[in-house]
Amino acid sequence: MAAAFEKARSTATAESGKNLLQVGALTMHFPLTQGIIFQRQVGAVRAVDGIDFFVEKGETLGLVGESGCGKSTTGRAILQLYKPTAGSVRFEGTELTTLGGEAMRRMRRKMQMIFQDPYASLNPRMTVGNIIGEPIEVHHLARGKAKTERVQELLRIVGLNPYFTNRYPHEFSGGQRQRIGVARALAVEPEFIVADEPISALDVSIQAQIINLLEELQSKFQLTYLFIAHDLSVVRHISDRVAVMYLGKIVELSDRQELYERPLHPYTQALLSAVPIPDPAIEQKRKRIILTGDVPSPVNPPTGCRFHTRCWKAQPICSEADPEFIEQSPRHWAACHFPG
Ligand SMILES: Nc1ncnc2c1ncn2[C@@H]1O[C@H](COP(=O)(O)OP(=O)(O)OP(=O)(O)O)[C@@H](O)[C@H]1O
Ligand code: SF4
Ligand SMILES: [Mg+2]
Repeated sequence: MAAAFEKARSTATAESGKNLLQVGALTMHFPLTQGIIFQRQVGAVRAVDGIDFFVEKGETLGLVGESGCGKSTTGRAILQLYKPTAGSVRFEGTELTTLGGEAMRRMRRKMQMIFQDPYASLNPRMTVGNIIGEPIEVHHLARGKAKTERVQELLRIVGLNPYFTNRYPHEFSGGQRQRIGVARALAVEPEFIVADEPISALDVSIQAQIINLLEELQSKFQLTYLFIAHDLSVVRHISDRVAVMYLGKIVELSDRQELYERPLHPYTQALLSAVPIPDPAIEQKRKRIILTGDVPSPVNPPTGCRFHTRCWKAQPICSEADPEFIEQSPRHWAACHFPG
């Protein structure tokens, strides 16, 4: 068992010239404390519980799963906005979890985040010029007139009027605000962007525009994305590969087409059965898999396979042994005792 695990892990995180990011056994537990004066730890929220994957240069890896499964925590732990409890995050071959001070600050420039809520993530008391100009200043990239020109250029790049620098976030629509968030992320010329549900808070009519913008920027600036979303329909268009997360674990990861055509994990199969198919003839015939029960608590996750309390394929072994994350076919990993 251990040998198979090592094999799977070494493949999932294999050093390769194509990989921009390599994540190994990444773990993020939030301590749960009790007591008013003497706080003692009584448990932990196991938000991310040992995940392995790589992101190739120039690709978009979609990360999908239900609310609370650990997607945002994964993104933040990669960018070192949280200090991971354990595991490794290598960016261009450099281990980030042990990197300190100035070296980490320089690395930060290469990795940015776009947030879900363009209302909450922009400071309402700052002008757009200052919001986008701040990272330029922090990283000493430009000053004075050159900075103003750079801000105007960034506004133009994301499709906004370059002369809006003195306006405040509330003067813009939701889609425009998200464009400001994108311009701010781009200001430091990053290589890697974690887009954490960047369209979930937007009107459906605006969502495609932001997706198109992100795709355009990706080819223009050779960006690599980790694109987080709730459901598989959102990431289908934009992702090269897709990872499916359940209760702190990645349960399946493969190239996009393979995942949508041959999902191996029962949880992925259930998520896919909820994605509408435009052809009414197929839509009528296909089987819906309705998941029963709630997602268990990450404080006390089920034994063995974490999905066993909701899985229609579960056998006795599923509650006893945690299935390994194994490369079932080339570039297709799944953690299930009965895949397929
Ligand atoms: N700072 C924190 N302190 C304690 N627990 C946290 C913290 N951040 C997240 N959690 C918990 O960790 C788990 C994973 O949260 P996370 O926000 O990563 O999920 P998510 O998949 O991004 O969910 P959503 O789709 O709702 O954004 C949840 O149970 C959440 O309550
Ligand atoms: S290991 Fe068992 S419970 Fe888990 S997904 Fe596979 S069949 Fe279902
Ligand atoms: Mg989230």
